[in-house]
Amino acid sequence: MRGVGLGLRSALLDDLLARGPEGLPALGWLECHPENYMRRGGRFPDGLARARELWPFATHGLSMSLGGTDPLEREYLRTLGGFLGDLAVPWHSDHLCFSSAQGVATHELLPLPFSEEAVRHVARRVREAQGALPVPLAVENVSYYVLPTPSTLDEGEFVSAVCAEADCGLLLDVNNVFVNAENHGGDARKIIEKMPLDRVVQIHVAGHWYEEPSFIIDTHSEPVREEVYELLAFTLERTGKVPVLLERDDDFPPFEELYAEIEQLDAIWRAAPEPAKKRAMR
Ligand SMILES: [Fe+2]
Repeated sequence: MRGVGLGLRSALLDDLLARGPEGLPALGWLECHPENYMRRGGRFPDGLARARELWPFATHGLSMSLGGTDPLEREYLRTLGGFLGDLAVPWHSDHLCFSSAQGVATHELLPLPFSEEAVRHVARRVREAQGALPVPLAVENVSYYVLPTPSTLDEGEFVSAVCAEADCGLLLDVNNVFVNAENHGGDARKIIEKMPLDRVVQIHVAGHWYEEPSFIIDTHSEPVREEVYELLAFTLERTGKVPVLLERDDDFPPFEELYAEIEQLDAIWRAAPEPAKKRAMR
């Protein structure tokens, strides 16, 4: 898996299939949310199967609740494992957060406190999930709007400790780092530098919305901002050529506008150095 990918959403499927890889040379791969396809019939799985014939895929889960306190759902992991095997993905990712409590799904990505106790808790569950899946698991840093407490570590220290203790990969979302730095008064480049950059297997990039001059919402429904392109280049200089994915979830522009963003990301990716030999996941 190399170059720039796009998050597959149903609104994008017809444009992707009509153009194909020949019409979209800057697009190297696609990412999908398994929750949108598992145990579903009809047009969704059919479109996924057609897209899979044309591009390699990675998968990005929404509901594992790795930081939660409910037991990991064995039936979900079993179904997910079969889905990942059918799609032949190189890895699967989910969020470093919790999204359900006492059996109730919140449909939100809620942050964990940056503490040693949370590191041990979530790392144990990441290892458990990895053991149930047929491919390596990477965790993604999330955006948060309230500082998680009680925190004794900073975000980079927390993510590094989880990845080391779980021996897992990192999906580094540079837009989430940017949003957190802006909203909570940090320096995005310093946060990136404290992340475990030797464990990054994939990068996410997205657009965000300035609700107020000092308050950003991570919408995934805006074009990527220039500052985030710059942060991506800064990150890729340090990780080397790691696959980069554009997340666009809503307010889709004409497909040519979205593809222009992919071309801009691809130019940044091509300018990055080749990666140092990665530590094996698992
Ligand atoms: Fe992301």
